[in-house]
Amino acid sequence: MKKTVGLFAAAALVMALSACSGGATPAASGGAGGAANKPLDKIVVGFAQVGAESGWRTANTKDIQDSFKEAGIQLKFSDAQQKQENQISAIRSYIQQGVDYIAFSPVVQTGWDAVLNEAKAAKIPVILTDRAVDSKDTSLYATFLGSDFVLEGKKAGEWVANEYKSASAPVNIVQLEGTTGSAPAIDRAKGFADAIASNSNLKVVASQTGDFTRAGGKQVMEAFLKSQPKIDLVFAQNDDMGLGAIEAITAAGKVPGKDIKIVTVDAVHDGMQALADGKINFIVECSPLLGKQLIDIVKKLNAGEAVEKRIVTDETTFTQDQAKTALPTRKY
Ligand code: AHR
Repeated sequence: MKKTVGLFAAAALVMALSACSGGATPAASGGAGGAANKPLDKIVVGFAQVGAESGWRTANTKDIQDSFKEAGIQLKFSDAQQKQENQISAIRSYIQQGVDYIAFSPVVQTGWDAVLNEAKAAKIPVILTDRAVDSKDTSLYATFLGSDFVLEGKKAGEWVANEYKSASAPVNIVQLEGTTGSAPAIDRAKGFADAIASNSNLKVVASQTGDFTRAGGKQVMEAFLKSQPKIDLVFAQNDDMGLGAIEAITAAGKVPGKDIKIVTVDAVHDGMQALADGKINFIVECSPLLGKQLIDIVKKLNAGEAVEKRIVTDETTFTQDQAKTALPTRKY
């Protein structure tokens, strides 16, 4: 029985692959192939999203869906609920359906080569959005559009280093990490550690994953407040975990932003509100508005034009005063 199902699945995959390799093919992965020059409304893009773990992710999904609607390009969308196996299944399904392009934000960095090779064999260009994969073979994707996460961590660390430049006693920092193995968690931790390294008073005394969720940030912060005798600052690798930490700090009878300072990354609306209210001290922006740039990449590949292998998003930082000014016109 198992064998029959396996044979059937293999036959279906071969049929799907041959169906999509016939006719006009888009530029091959890496943009090396010829132009498909399809009318925009005939282009189909499969997007495998990470999940809905944070305010950032919700804003990112909305921006992508709105941008495709506006451009008149068909979008097939899937939510992997933060599970790599779900994302791999979604990508395989897009390959079988013969979409023209696959875009995805990899939940973790490693373990993509097999499925990306399948996309390459089917001549479907892959566009990495938001997060990178850790693969030696860069021909497996056409481009990577997203933030410089190391720089984001560095900006957070530089603010902390400056804030405590005159400290004469140890400053105890706890870190709320994003999803283990994800590019932003790895890179932000690195950038932050590098930036605070020059001041030996700055010490990360505890660091644990809150999985980029508000509930995770709250739970880990509750545990830190019990296990750590003195906490001066929280570096939350995203706003949602910082907002969860605010709940835990308040419940412990301390004042977030004063008794314990908080630095986060993202600058989504709820984070900016907490910053303007004095509960967060500094936010490094990570823009979720990648939809328009993704559409531009699709259009370029469709026209056979070259795309940059790495497209870095422009981002800024916010102090409490800057948040008050920016909030009324903030899009997300
Ligand atoms: O990959 C971007 C990160 O993922 C955002 O900083 C975080 O909020 C999200 O879940």
